[in-house]
Amino acid sequence: MSPSTPESGAAIPPQECPARAVFAQGATLTALYGPAARRDPGAVYEKLRAEHGGIAPVELEGGVPAWLVLGYQENTQVARTPSRFTRDARLWRDWNEGRIAADDPLLQLLGWRPDVVSYDGEEHRRLRAAVNECLTRFDRHGTRRHVQRYANQLIDGFVEDGAADLVTQFAAYLPMLVLSRLVGLDEEHGPKLVEAIVGMVSGGEKAFAHNQYIIGTLRALTEERRRAPVHDLASWFIQHPSGLNDDEVCAHLRLVIVLGYEATTNLVSNTLRMVLTDPRFRASLAGGLMTLPDAVEQILWDDPPLLVCPARFATHDMRFADREIRKGDMLLLGIAAGNADPQVRPDPGAPIHGNRSHLAFSRGPHECSGQEIARAITDTGVDVLLNRLPDLHLTVPEDQLTWTASTWSRHLDALPVTFAPRRRPAPQSAPAARVERSAATDARAAMAEADAQAEADARRGFWASLVDLVRGRR
Ligand code: HEM
Repeated sequence: MSPSTPESGAAIPPQECPARAVFAQGATLTALYGPAARRDPGAVYEKLRAEHGGIAPVELEGGVPAWLVLGYQENTQVARTPSRFTRDARLWRDWNEGRIAADDPLLQLLGWRPDVVSYDGEEHRRLRAAVNECLTRFDRHGTRRHVQRYANQLIDGFVEDGAADLVTQFAAYLPMLVLSRLVGLDEEHGPKLVEAIVGMVSGGEKAFAHNQYIIGTLRALTEERRRAPVHDLASWFIQHPSGLNDDEVCAHLRLVIVLGYEATTNLVSNTLRMVLTDPRFRASLAGGLMTLPDAVEQILWDDPPLLVCPARFATHDMRFADREIRKGDMLLLGIAAGNADPQVRPDPGAPIHGNRSHLAFSRGPHECSGQEIARAITDTGVDVLLNRLPDLHLTVPEDQLTWTASTWSRHLDALPVTFAPRRRPAPQSAPAARVERSAATDARAAMAEADAQAEADARRGFWASLVDLVRGRR
């Protein structure tokens, strides 16, 4: 396939590549990559909506054609109807007809794997029962306790400096630490594993070594938990009546970290940005209308952590949203585009007051299994930060914040803040560096420490800290 480098959002001439030529009767495809799509993906979606309505022919990097679903209703229908639009990539026509190279990097994301993401039907129900039932065993209080503990440790790492970058020193670490703890990794292996996952996904010559490390770590964890189960996801996967074998246990432990880590980091960063900059949040706060969980839902509507969700494949030829879809065509859920659909949000500036009917976690049989954990990490983590540092100020104007975007997501590069330096509390929480160094964790001491901190946070109160924040900014 001949890759092109469009000026983006730009229309691509239809004839260059074989996959394009047979797609959508040779329709003109718009690139979902390139400078403009990276700079302002929302503008690309709105242009496509104006030209095509609820679903538009697009092109991914390397010339791979797909339909981008833009309408809210259309996204809901595609996600909820696996009999017409399956997750099973073995139906992908361009793959089956040899138009996708075996080493195409998109296969990491779009290719078929034997896990809960790729199956539909009976096998999906079996794997999903294990994933969902085990994830919901972490009750909200238990997850919060871990979040409080790690958030406090991270804050201890910069509290004496009077300045920090909340993306690289807080948001990028918090989900990773919590998720690896829930999975069952100790504080030595958790961060290393996530580094390896990030290294593997970004490719390059070390990708193979990273992959070997990931497989080795999760395999060792699985074997250990088969011998001696404890209170963690690895042990619960093993014990679940769905009967997961060791390969399935490892694959799904890895999946939880891969799927949860980046999206939750984006949600934490975006929520922090909103808390620090958005006048709606401060104005609502003064009137007592917007809670932190409300702010999180507002972000899930306005700035969803995943812009575009891969992928569904048409199970037969059909007419859908006024277009002819052929068996094996790939469809992408346009989460950000669907959330912004004027049919459901005629006034995009109107506050949504905690309404959870956005598409950020998708819909239907594959709806995100970890959404309550993502919410708990985000609102508890931000709450702890605001309690500890109520005088946080962004050090750059909001319009100077920069983002890095791909077809699938976009994330803030940095959120630089200042605050009055404080002494690191001792010995209640350990410095952040210890998170990486400590080999063995005294779980009971850690839980007692987290409980003490939780009580202190509750006494001080979320409202008090936010009111301080507003006062500090006036
Ligand atoms: C803000 C953070 C998150 C966002 C925005 C998010 C979003 C999504 C989306 C859009 C899907 C795909 C659904 C589809 O194909 O229709 C998904 C699937 C999934 N997510 Fe999340 N997710 C987040 C965090 C997490 C976390 C923390 C976990 C685990 C603890 C998790 C576990 C999963 C799993 C296991 C699936 C596959 C479900 C299936 O295919 O049946 N996610 N997520």
